[in-house]
Amino acid sequence: PDLYPDRRNSRGAELGYRPDLAELSGAVAGGYVGEETVTGFVGGASLGENDLRDAVNPATGRTFARWAETSEADVARAVAVGKDAFPAWDRKGPAARASCLRAYADILEAHRDELLGVLGAEAGKTMDDGLAEVREAVDFCRYYAAEAERVMAPKDLPSPVGETNTYHLEGRGVFACIAPWNFPLAIFVGQAVAAIAAGNAVVAKPAEQTPVTAAMAVKLAHEAGIPGGIFNLVLGGGKVGAALTADERIAGVAFTGSTKTAKAIGRTLAEREGGIIPFIAETGGVNAMIVDSTALPEQVADDVISSAFRSAGQRCSALRVLYLQEDVADSMLEMIEGAARALVLGDPGEASTDVGPVIDAAARERLDAHWAKVGEEGRVVYVGEAPEEGTFYAPRIVEMPDLDSVQEEAFGPILHVIRYGSRQLDAVMEAIGSTGYGLTFGLHTRLEERIARLVPRAPAGNVYVNRNQIGAIVGVQPFGGRGLSGTGPKAGGPLYLTRFCEERTVTINT
Ligand code: NAD
Ligand code: ALA
Repeated sequence: PDLYPDRRNSRGAELGYRPDLAELSGAVAGGYVGEETVTGFVGGASLGENDLRDAVNPATGRTFARWAETSEADVARAVAVGKDAFPAWDRKGPAARASCLRAYADILEAHRDELLGVLGAEAGKTMDDGLAEVREAVDFCRYYAAEAERVMAPKDLPSPVGETNTYHLEGRGVFACIAPWNFPLAIFVGQAVAAIAAGNAVVAKPAEQTPVTAAMAVKLAHEAGIPGGIFNLVLGGGKVGAALTADERIAGVAFTGSTKTAKAIGRTLAEREGGIIPFIAETGGVNAMIVDSTALPEQVADDVISSAFRSAGQRCSALRVLYLQEDVADSMLEMIEGAARALVLGDPGEASTDVGPVIDAAARERLDAHWAKVGEEGRVVYVGEAPEEGTFYAPRIVEMPDLDSVQEEAFGPILHVIRYGSRQLDAVMEAIGSTGYGLTFGLHTRLEERIARLVPRAPAGNVYVNRNQIGAIVGVQPFGGRGLSGTGPKAGGPLYLTRFCEERTVTINT
C-alpha cells in the first residue's frame, strides 16, 4: 500500500534508485574532500574554532578533518536562540513546515555522493550502508512531513449548543536531539526533522565520533529553508550532552544511544529545574534469532550473515544470539561459517567491500574484552581476518552453553550460537526475555503454528520471520524496542510525531 504518496525513496533498488556502486566508489573513504574544520551552528552562524579535535577515518587511522567542541556558554546560547525562534515556526503551521522538509529531502538526495563520502570517511560506512543511510534520512523527511499534515490538522469536536470545541497539536518548544555515531546521518536527521515538523526548535548533538556528517546535514537543512534558529548544532561528547539536557528551558529530549546513557539522561531530567518533559529513548539490545529444523538453510545463512555482520555488527538491531535446533545445528553452522569466510573486509570505498571497520580503538577494546570472556567459556567456531590498518575487527562466531555471559550488548561482529532441543522452545523464549532488552527478534521456521505461537510472545518491538532482522524501513517497519531497549514511540511510525507535540483543546462559549 502507498502509505504516504510522496515517498519515492527507500528500497531504492526496486524503485530504480540504486546507483552503480563501482561508479560511486570514488566518493567514499579517503575520497572525501570536505571542509577542513567544522563547527557547531547557532542561529545559522558558525561557532568559533576553539578546542579543536581530530576527525579520524576508522578505516585508515588518518585524520581527515578537524572539529571544534562547543563551549557550555554556546550550548546555553543555542537553547536561547531556539526558544526565540520557536513561536514563529510553530505558528507557520504543518503545511509550510512540511514543504521545508520536502525541500530538505530533495537537497539530501542531490548531495548523495558527498554524503556517501563523509559517511565512509567518518563512520567507515560501506557503499551499501551509506546508500541506505541517505535513503533513510530522505524517507524520514518525507514521512514526518506527511505525518505533520496528517496529525496536526485542527479537529472540530462535538459541541453542545452555544459552544464550539476544537482540538489540535502544537510544538512544545526547544527539543534536545542526541544521536549515536552508528547512524550519523539517518538517526541524526530523523530525530531533528520529527521535532521540526511538529513545530519545535532543535538543538542537535551528534556523537563525538561523527560531527562532520552532522555539520554537513545541518548546513544542507539551512540551504533547504529550515531557519538557522530552528536547527542548531552543538558538537561534543557526554559533557556537552549533559549540559544540554540539564538546561531547564529544554521542552523535550529525543535520544538514541546506549541504555547506560539513557539512564544517565533520565537522572539529569529528574533532578534539573523546570518542567517534567517527554523523554524518547531508543537504546540497545541483545537480539536473538531462533532457527528450527524446518527452516531453509540457504536463507538462514544469508540472513544470519547480514543480521550479525553487516555494518560490522554495529547496529542496535543486529543479531547477537543465534539459537539453532540441535538436529540441524552442525549443518547450519557449517553453512554460516562458510558464508562468513566469504565476507570481504576492507576499504569502505570499494564496491566489493562487505564489512568496514568498527568506529574507533575504544570500541575494538570493548569487543576484545568481551571476546576474551566468551572465547574462554565457549567453543570458538570461527575468527576471520582483519586488515592491519585502521580499527577493523574480524567477524567471529562462538558457541556458548547458555546466555549467562551474553547479558549485555557487545556492539560489533560477534555472533553467539546456542543449541536447543525441540522440547526446549519455551525455556529459550524465557531466556531471551530474561536479558530485559527487547529490540529485535528473528524466527526461521516453516511451521505456521510455531509462528502463531512464538510471535506474540517475542520479547521485542520488531519481530522478523523468515528474513534478516535489520534495516527497518521508515513507515513500513516502524522501529523501536521495549524494556531496556527503549521507551518508544517507534521511529518512522504513526505515533512518533505526536510525542514531540503538545495537545490543546479550546472551548469557546458562543
Ligand atoms: P552512547 O550512549 O555512548 O552515546 C549516544 C549519544 O549520547 C552521543 O551523542 C553521546 O555523546 C551522548 N551522551 C553520552 N553521555 C551523555 C550524557 N551524560 N548526557 C547526554 N548525552 C550523552 O551510544 P553510542 O555509542 O553513540 O551508540 C551506540 C549505541 O546506540 C548502542 O547501544 C546501540 O544499540 C544504540 N542504538 C540504538 C538505536 C535504536 O534505534 N534503538 C539505533 C542506533 C543505535
Ligand atoms: N533502524 C535500524 C535497523 O533496523 C537500526 O537496522
